[in-house]
Amino acid sequence: MSDFREISPAELTDNPFTLIGQDWLLVTAAAEGRANTMTASWGGLGVLWSLPVATIYLRPQRYTKEFVDKSAAFSLSVLDDSHRATLSYLGAVSGRDEDKIKKSGLTIAHEGEVPYFKESRLVLICRKLYRQAMNPENFVVPALINQWYSQEDYHTMYVGAIEKILQRG
Ligand SMILES: Cc1cc2nc3c(=O)[nH]c(=O)nc-3n(C[C@H](O)[C@H](O)[C@H](O)COP(=O)(O)O)c2cc1C
Repeated sequence: MSDFREISPAELTDNPFTLIGQDWLLVTAAAEGRANTMTASWGGLGVLWSLPVATIYLRPQRYTKEFVDKSAAFSLSVLDDSHRATLSYLGAVSGRDEDKIKKSGLTIAHEGEVPYFKESRLVLICRKLYRQAMNPENFVVPALINQWYSQEDYHTMYVGAIEKILQRG
């Protein structure tokens, strides 16, 4: 734990657009004594119900979704660019098919019950507040359905309260 110091949401200086869209996140959750992780580049950081929140979007076929669904919490780990190949691997292979975490060489640490990666430069520990599957009827711009959901695999949105932010150094 000494590698990290806790900061408040107001102290976070990262740009959310580069943090999520370019640096990418590892979404990690544990259930029934096992953990799984996947790369995500869609999401948001903001305020909802007067709480600091992180929002992620998981397609139904993601193995990680099963872990997030079974768990009360998940983590979002941000790694620096030296880990880019690992992030690509964790975003291309499913934990259903390989022991991805072991193969990645990353090290799991825990904040309470919530797994995250020791190699991270930033970690958000999030407690699940809300989940909702996207509904095709609710798209204001139907072209998005053709663009993103040809297999009708609509994302489920998860809103998590940011309970702790750990920053390296
Ligand atoms: C850069 C990048 C970003 C991704 N973003 C998301 C995302 O936001 N939501 C999602 O459902 N899948 C996303 N994926 C796909 C999953 O990471 C990928 O399908 C992964 O293999 C799922 O692993 P799992 O089955 O072990 O959960 C992304 C993949 C990459 C490479």
